[in-house]
Amino acid sequence: MNNNPLPRLDTNPELRRRLLSCCRLGAGGIWEDPHGHRIACLDAADSDAVAQFVVGERPTLAIHDPPYNLAAFDTHNVSQYISWCERWVMNTYHFLATNASLYVWLGADQNDGFQPLADFMLMMRRTPFAPRSFITMRNQRGYGTQKNWMAVRQELLYYIKGDPGFDVAAEYTGIPKILRGYYKEVNGRLTENLERGRSDTIRAGNVWVDIQQVFYRMDENVSGCYAQKPLRSIERIMQASSAEHDTVVDLFAHSGTTLLAAERLGRRCLTADH
Ligand SMILES: C[S@@+](CC[C@H](N)C(=O)[O-])C[C@H]1O[C@@H](n2cnc3c(N)ncnc32)[C@H](O)[C@@H]1O
Repeated sequence: MNNNPLPRLDTNPELRRRLLSCCRLGAGGIWEDPHGHRIACLDAADSDAVAQFVVGERPTLAIHDPPYNLAAFDTHNVSQYISWCERWVMNTYHFLATNASLYVWLGADQNDGFQPLADFMLMMRRTPFAPRSFITMRNQRGYGTQKNWMAVRQELLYYIKGDPGFDVAAEYTGIPKILRGYYKEVNGRLTENLERGRSDTIRAGNVWVDIQQVFYRMDENVSGCYAQKPLRSIERIMQASSAEHDTVVDLFAHSGTTLLAAERLGRRCLTADH
């Protein structure tokens, strides 16, 4: 990472050559594990490689977490970055089932016109996907100066193709409802919101404040994976927007969070990185 005190090992050519010789999957390689998950080494924007990878499957859910065009990985000119995104978004559209969901994690650079998030949202209007929600997940730790609001958010966009299901049960958090009020008359009796609600806990809504971001002392932490998403967040998405035995795709695997969540929740996962 450019802004991280630890140097990126993979940018050293000699080390990279030696590490790659230990990798089981080379560029273009696909491996299917005994549980039916599929793992590949490919470029998400390469339509032929992606088509070959998903062949025979009709995934109902894609969860993508591309590099954000911010400091962590290489940065590109915004329009180049967005045309690259359009390619993997359309690849995804073609392999998804008729009724399916797409979630995309992305960032906004507050020092650079909030790119690429703003540009990505505009690009998505040109695609056949329909927008459904704009979710923010709050980090526990943030970064910033004393002269600006601390940056603590991670953005998650939710789009659909056709008319996929949504299991609202997945939205309930473990946070108890504590605020009374919002009185309303029901059958001639004045009731308050706690009586009328379906659950004692609050719904996550589109601002998730109940998920611990991954840090080094957590079991799920994979050392060296700086952009890891919390397992809980991926499980929430999967439970809301897929059913058991469905196939889920993630073309930007990194630490493999989506694969792990799929295994835990009884979904099949096709996941790749380049
Ligand atoms: C933000 S990370 C994903 C983090 C992941 N969700 C997790 O929880 O570990 C982005 C990943 O995309 C991969 N990547 C970058 N360009 C790619 C491409 N063209 N095709 C596939 N993967 C790519 C990077 O190698 C990196 O591992």
